[in-house]
Amino acid sequence: MMTKPEFRVFPTAQATTHAVAAHLAAALKQHPALRLGLATGNTFVPVYAALVDLYRAGGFSFAQSMSFNLDEYIGLPPEHPASFGAYMRRHFFDHVDMPAGKGRLPIVEGDIDQACQDYEAAIAASGGIDLQVLGIGRNGHIGFNEPGSAFDSRTRQIDLAPSTLEANQGDFPPTESVPPSAVTMGIGTILDAREIVLVANGASKAEALRAAFLAQPSTDCPASALQSHGRVLVFCDEAAAEKLDR
Ligand code: GLP
Repeated sequence: MMTKPEFRVFPTAQATTHAVAAHLAAALKQHPALRLGLATGNTFVPVYAALVDLYRAGGFSFAQSMSFNLDEYIGLPPEHPASFGAYMRRHFFDHVDMPAGKGRLPIVEGDIDQACQDYEAAIAASGGIDLQVLGIGRNGHIGFNEPGSAFDSRTRQIDLAPSTLEANQGDFPPTESVPPSAVTMGIGTILDAREIVLVANGASKAEALRAAFLAQPSTDCPASALQSHGRVLVFCDEAAAEKLDR
């Protein structure tokens, strides 16, 4: 059965950001042992900043929580500033009390296929993800599940789409190109989360949101798989919601 996602539309990106951070803080207050699924990307830089501000103000803690990130580039040293591991330390892990080792990202070295299976096993062994946050690519990707990804896909290695390489070039110095491949949780992995919070701001995400939630689900738009999930909240600004028939 298809369930409509719940849309929460805000006048500005800043208002969206604060609402998402407040939603996460409330979830942690209610369930201190929350198992979070975390995302990277420009959309989440201010979300983590707002969440860290709320954490510093008190009232909740990450001490009992744990997290699993969606994805990581293959081929970057862990200390590379554009790696998602470095991003997570810079914007989040270094500022909160989640115990070391409890904030995990996909392993992108050694036997990658085995590491992907181990990541799935670790998520399952934790009891599964309670709350997964997601951004959305301009081409409708979630995590790094590019168009064509199967809706039942699991954590695996994937080649990045040309439009993704272009969109993410800004995170790298001009002399360095974006790694051509990554490890990502699968769409099936994402759909196993009990609640999904998708965040999108700006006119550049309007078409992706329309294709994700107003069109027939299709592997051409990976995010359209979310239509089959029972609890999806979409937090977005008015610019991103422009093409949603509300
Ligand atoms: C990135 C990430 C996604 C993210 C998306 C949008 O490449 N792999 O998880 O949601 O692309 O990123 P941004 O927020 O920078 O637009």
